[in-house]
Amino acid sequence: MAENNLRVLLRERPKDRPGPEHFELSEGPRPTAAKGEVLVRHRFLSLDPYMRGRMDDAASYARPVPLGGVMEGECVGEVVESQHPGFAPGDWVGGARGWQRYSVAPGGTLLKLPKEGGVPPTAWLGVLGMPGVTAWVGVTEIGQPRPGETFVVSAASGAVGGVAGQVAKQMGARVIGIAGGAEKCRYVTETLGFDACLDHRGDLEAALDAACPEGIDVYFENVGGAVQEAVFPRMREFGRMAFCGTVATYNVRPPPPGPNLSSINRKRLRLQGFIVSDHPRAWPVWRQRGAAWIRDGRLKWKEDVVQGLENAPEAFIGLLEGRNFGKLVVAL
Ligand SMILES: NC(=O)c1ccc[n+]([C@@H]2O[C@H](COP(=O)([O-])OP(=O)(O)OC[C@H]3O[C@@H](n4cnc5c(N)ncnc54)[C@H](OP(=O)(O)O)[C@@H]3O)[C@@H](O)[C@H]2O)c1
Repeated sequence: MAENNLRVLLRERPKDRPGPEHFELSEGPRPTAAKGEVLVRHRFLSLDPYMRGRMDDAASYARPVPLGGVMEGECVGEVVESQHPGFAPGDWVGGARGWQRYSVAPGGTLLKLPKEGGVPPTAWLGVLGMPGVTAWVGVTEIGQPRPGETFVVSAASGAVGGVAGQVAKQMGARVIGIAGGAEKCRYVTETLGFDACLDHRGDLEAALDAACPEGIDVYFENVGGAVQEAVFPRMREFGRMAFCGTVATYNVRPPPPGPNLSSINRKRLRLQGFIVSDHPRAWPVWRQRGAAWIRDGRLKWKEDVVQGLENAPEAFIGLLEGRNFGKLVVAL
């Protein structure tokens, strides 16, 4: 008998912090592929901060998940049934979607993952997937650090921050990470090769003054809140900020009052928000560059793997509080 499709649905919209009561586990028959479609058994699900926004019914750059709908998310998995000439059972693919065991997708929307090349399938969700491309775009197109400049990135041990710092380092910048706790900071300097990493749970202002005595040329913003407040006044004139996300604020309702933004004017800073999906041309460029850097040992990353779809809600709740260490994925 065919395995059932286990799915995580959005039961209720959270008012602030999501809890287990906002999700619902549901089991039903698995779908079948029609002409041109492919049925995929998901093996790994990516959990990412943007999913918090999809739980709200608010205007954004993407549509919310409807109540009772399957939670949004990207997966890699194996083809089990194909009605598309480009795919055969056993192929590994990326681009399958949803917090669920199975999905059906038009073949044209899937990416066939190479069998060779020393890149594990989960890398296509993290370092070579959406978070990796985000880092690449934010650093190369927006922050544009020059050799010798000071580049600071928050959530530095995470999926985006870890890659952003490594790309900035390759461009010749002095790279300072900010992360939560000694263990994450050690990983950021010892494994990722950043020049320093500051613990935001300590006196971040003093640590920034010591690590960046000349100020900060480029800030890659992942967190917001108190970290952002500490960074802003330490920006140098004509500094750049790549505004990637503010995960520390995603559960805060009403939104917190902002920092004093007068530095933007006084120091003629350039800030730019960006959404990775606006940069389709960057995806193949980074996948090729990142895969080459993985093969020659230059690009490092860490995964935080949770077992079982039923544990996805709790893991996601933890992601919004900094409990993950590395790119969060669920093994199905
Ligand atoms: N613009 C885009 O297109 C785009 C695309 C992808 C991601 N993003 C954004 O990029 C950022 C990083 O995403 P990611 O996937 O790489 O996640 P991640 O860094 O793997 O995980 C989130 C990390 O954020 C930090 N954090 C969480 N809650 C916090 C809080 N309340 N205060 C301070 N730090 C907190 C924690 O790290 P520490 O413990 O080290 O603080 C946590 O581990 C997010 O803001 C996300 O929304 C934007």
